[in-house]
Amino acid sequence: MQVNIPLKKTVDNSYDISIEALKKNHFDTKVAIVTNPKVAGLHLAYLLSFISAKELFIITISDGEEYKNQESVDTILESLFNHRFNRKSMLIAFGGGVIGDMTGYAASIYQRGIDFIQIPTTLLSQVDASVGGKTGMNNAYGKNLIGAFHQPKAVFIDPYFLNTLAPREFGAGVAEMVKMAITFDKEFFEFLESAELKDKEVLAKAIKKAVQTKASVVAKDEKEHGLRAALNYGHTFAHVIENETDYKEFLHGEAVAIGMIMANEVSVSLGLMNEDEALRVKRFLQKYNLPTSYKIKNENSFYEAFFLDKKSSDESITFILARGIGEVEIKNDVERSLIISALNKFGDLI
Ligand code: GLY
Repeated sequence: MQVNIPLKKTVDNSYDISIEALKKNHFDTKVAIVTNPKVAGLHLAYLLSFISAKELFIITISDGEEYKNQESVDTILESLFNHRFNRKSMLIAFGGGVIGDMTGYAASIYQRGIDFIQIPTTLLSQVDASVGGKTGMNNAYGKNLIGAFHQPKAVFIDPYFLNTLAPREFGAGVAEMVKMAITFDKEFFEFLESAELKDKEVLAKAIKKAVQTKASVVAKDEKEHGLRAALNYGHTFAHVIENETDYKEFLHGEAVAIGMIMANEVSVSLGLMNEDEALRVKRFLQKYNLPTSYKIKNENSFYEAFFLDKKSSDESITFILARGIGEVEIKNDVERSLIISALNKFGDLI
């Protein structure tokens, strides 16, 4: 005997991403703003001049990738229980990617899911992490291996927050932004190549283009069954680098910059990209002082670490490769020997 549960209903999870100065918002419910001491010190007063709620709480968790863990998620959840949050209550993620991912994850599991809003304060989180509903945390097995797809109700991107961003953080955001141009949009790459991103209007235009690109990918493949994996261009390599260096040497976007250079080396070996195109990408990254080389100590163990990637299976590793500039190719059948010889080229600082 079988009992069928018909669940083929369409749920509309659409939401708007505003790229402009914050506007006044009042929420007729309990709201908790989740942030870290650094962002709170710089910008909480500014945020509070726009946000009001029936009851408003601030939850502060420690700053840094090393705190993207169960303990911090528990801190958020405990505060929600203590303040008797219910299913109509809401969270606001106020910070960079770490805050956004953990707040979204806490929202996805608290009483089986409550609403949350993203207010990203770094360039990286404005152009990538806050958009698309990936939430999660790290554990002893790796980065973002625990999490859920849980879309925010809205994303408020206010470029004002970037005024206090350190130059390295800015570069890390540029790396995630150019990732979208290299894989999906040659014109966007050419725009970025000639753009003066220090100019606020130009930067706002670039943010808008990156967000539009990401939004169109997420709209086609929300849960990463195919196309969305393209947004992981450079990341297969970056995650190994971040692991090898204990997340201490490079910011995530910096590791992605090196990862894109490595992926391009594979693309060149496969004839998907020519040397000139690979050089253009490298020059662009160097313009933003992003690292473009890395000393691989052992190519074989570097290769074996790819199997821990969420996109890999026991049998094959998925590589996200650029085809020229502006197109992407997802490949599961690249020969080990070709990857090893591409990895062999890394070692000398360029
Ligand atoms: N950051 C990659 C994604 O959201 O799919």
